[in-house]
Amino acid sequence: MPELIAAPPGLEGVIAFDTEIAEPDVDGSALRYRGVDIEELVGVVPYEKVWGLLVDGSFEPGLPPAEPHPLTVRSGDPRVDLQAALALLAPEWGLRPLLDLDVVEAREQLARVAVMALSFVAQSARGPGRPPVPQAEVDRGRTIAERFLIRWRGQADPRAVRAIDAYWIAAAEHGMNASTFTARIVASTGADVAAALSAAVGALSGPLHGGAPSRVLRMLDEVEREGDATAYVRRVLDRGERLMGFGHRVYRAEDPRARVLRRTARELGSPRVEVAERLERAALEELAARKPDRVLATNVEFWSAVVLDTAGVPAELFTPMFACARVAGWSAHILEQKRSGRLIRPTARYVGPQRRSAAEVPGWN
Ligand code: ACO
Repeated sequence: MPELIAAPPGLEGVIAFDTEIAEPDVDGSALRYRGVDIEELVGVVPYEKVWGLLVDGSFEPGLPPAEPHPLTVRSGDPRVDLQAALALLAPEWGLRPLLDLDVVEAREQLARVAVMALSFVAQSARGPGRPPVPQAEVDRGRTIAERFLIRWRGQADPRAVRAIDAYWIAAAEHGMNASTFTARIVASTGADVAAALSAAVGALSGPLHGGAPSRVLRMLDEVEREGDATAYVRRVLDRGERLMGFGHRVYRAEDPRARVLRRTARELGSPRVEVAERLERAALEELAARKPDRVLATNVEFWSAVVLDTAGVPAELFTPMFACARVAGWSAHILEQKRSGRLIRPTARYVGPQRRSAAEVPGWN
């Protein structure tokens, strides 16, 4: 029995695994996928190549197109539909537990299931009232992002394709966050890949993780209406509230994803760029003045909101879109966990009542 070590609350600062996939460079303001800076990838390669880089360490063969498969759950909440439909793929496709697969089989099943996440979100976005886009139309898409948009809207506007590809690549992987940790825990039990991916979607759904860049859009709306960004920022901070899209738990420099997505928004001529830059300037000035001892820079959520808005993605689809991106990182970590073959099973220190009889517990009689 190894010596027990008490971990800090929230496991902050604990190194749980060795990984070859990625880890943010928190002081250098960089994010590298298997050593490649995201600055080199965003706007250059399509998302499916980045899935390949993260999972296989190679741009080839990448992620294949999704198989034709209807969205099987329609709850009214696209995130719930995604999580449930992914889990259902195990019985539908007869997926076997990871424990019973070799690494090649596990990789194939991951690719099959992961790409369905994107198809399910596109079908959710299209809504139950509209007939599905014929498969032959979807097959005209040359990249996964094009196919996604055709499945959703019947056509793929090039600006929306570029915006979605950029967002998916920038948000594809970010080290040991809560949903990735969840995916690894489920994979470590030897469960099937659909169970691991759907559990990760559940972890992502929490407001402390999947976030809500929709709150950034509300701020932009208000500044657009009022005109004076500095006055708006001061009012929010004077009320003791936080500015959405600023600050980060791990980065002590600018969030590199904010930087690439700002560049993308400018390149795409996003209609919100002007107001976003005005708000960003005012926020950074005011935060620096009020918190001179902290680095409070723009985080990924701020420019994600602008880029997704450029692609015409409604706020209720922001979390499912995040899942479409992060399914790449989850897949890579599930495979890495499978290779390690180790069950994740920490210990808890018991701090409950001392030994007692059942009769001492309220409600016994
Ligand atoms: N606006 C105003 N003040 C802020 C902000 C902000 N966005 N972020 C931090 N601060 C202030 C805090 O009030 C605190 O001040 P105090 O020391 O006087 O109490 C100080 O900076 C440190 O704050 P912490 O909560 O310790 O910072 P932490 O690094 O733990 O929090 C977090 C990071 C949660 C992201 C925080 O910056 C925040 O709430 N930001 C706004 C919400 C947001 O943008 N969330 C998305 C994050 S990106 C992602 O999760 C993928």
